[in-house]
Amino acid sequence: KKLSIVGVPMDLGQLRRGVDMGPSAMRYADAVKRLERLGYEVEDLGDITIQIIKDDKNMQPSLRNFKSIIKAASRLADCVDSIIQKDRFPLVLGGDHSIAIGTLAGTAKHYKKLGVIWFDAHGDLNTDETSPSGNIHGMPLAASLGFGHPDLTGIGGFQPKVKPEHVVIIGARDLDRGEKDLIKEHSIKVYTMHEIDRLGMTKVMEETIAYLKEKTDGVHLSLDLDGLDPDDAPGVGTPVIGGISYRESHLAMEMLAESEIVTSAEFVEVNPILDEKNKTAEIAVALMGSLLGEKLL
Ligand code: ARG
Ligand code: MN
Ligand code: MN
Ligand code: MN
Repeated sequence: KKLSIVGVPMDLGQLRRGVDMGPSAMRYADAVKRLERLGYEVEDLGDITIQIIKDDKNMQPSLRNFKSIIKAASRLADCVDSIIQKDRFPLVLGGDHSIAIGTLAGTAKHYKKLGVIWFDAHGDLNTDETSPSGNIHGMPLAASLGFGHPDLTGIGGFQPKVKPEHVVIIGARDLDRGEKDLIKEHSIKVYTMHEIDRLGMTKVMEETIAYLKEKTDGVHLSLDLDGLDPDDAPGVGTPVIGGISYRESHLAMEMLAESEIVTSAEFVEVNPILDEKNKTAEIAVALMGSLLGEKLL
């Protein structure tokens, strides 16, 4: 069992500074030790360099910090690609969710039928044409599905990274108009908070695992900490009331661990500036533990 950690100190995909310190906050919460205790051989590769590159003056304002984000995504894609080549499990620490464009580009090189679990209050299914904010952290799932600006969808030189029928969104409770249209048009599987309340997390995860297991050859977990309720995880830039509880999120991770379907993961949107005594980073690290096999007894 070998695992490589890489941090992505990216805060350019949205407007609230501080989320670039997410990787440090999760390291401070003892991510490495926690995983070593589970028997993994852990290597921490440090952080991807984030280079600030000015956008052209006539660049669409709906793609804020476009060039810097593209540069970081290609660097991250290469890094994740080489981790998987070495037969290790990639664990990416964010950074805002725009980094998923790079993680998925690197991962998808190795899986023809890559599955994605998008654990998030949001769909992150906007494009430059539908985004109400111009923030690229609201676009990574769309970009990975091949929708949006060609420079975002084309990272790594191929697209799409993932097919709509191989995606499951869990925890959604804030979707923009264009995202709803895209979900309907492409029949993307979504467990909103309504289904989580109604079915319970056990059933949601049983169905998710069964759905992905038979038709994918690898599964990436992209976990946005704002999927959790902001009472439990306050250190996020776009909190939405009424989220997944601390217990439900652990249960979800534990069921994924048992299923053994997850082949890569990322934990994003931890913003220690907005947090309470690093609580959100600590929860992120505890969830990593559960995902990777931690049990009480
Ligand atoms: N849907 C909103 C937008 O496009 C919010 C996106 C929030 N995304 C996130 N990764 N926290 O701006
Ligand atoms: Mn910064
Ligand atoms: Mn979110
Ligand atoms: Mn997100």
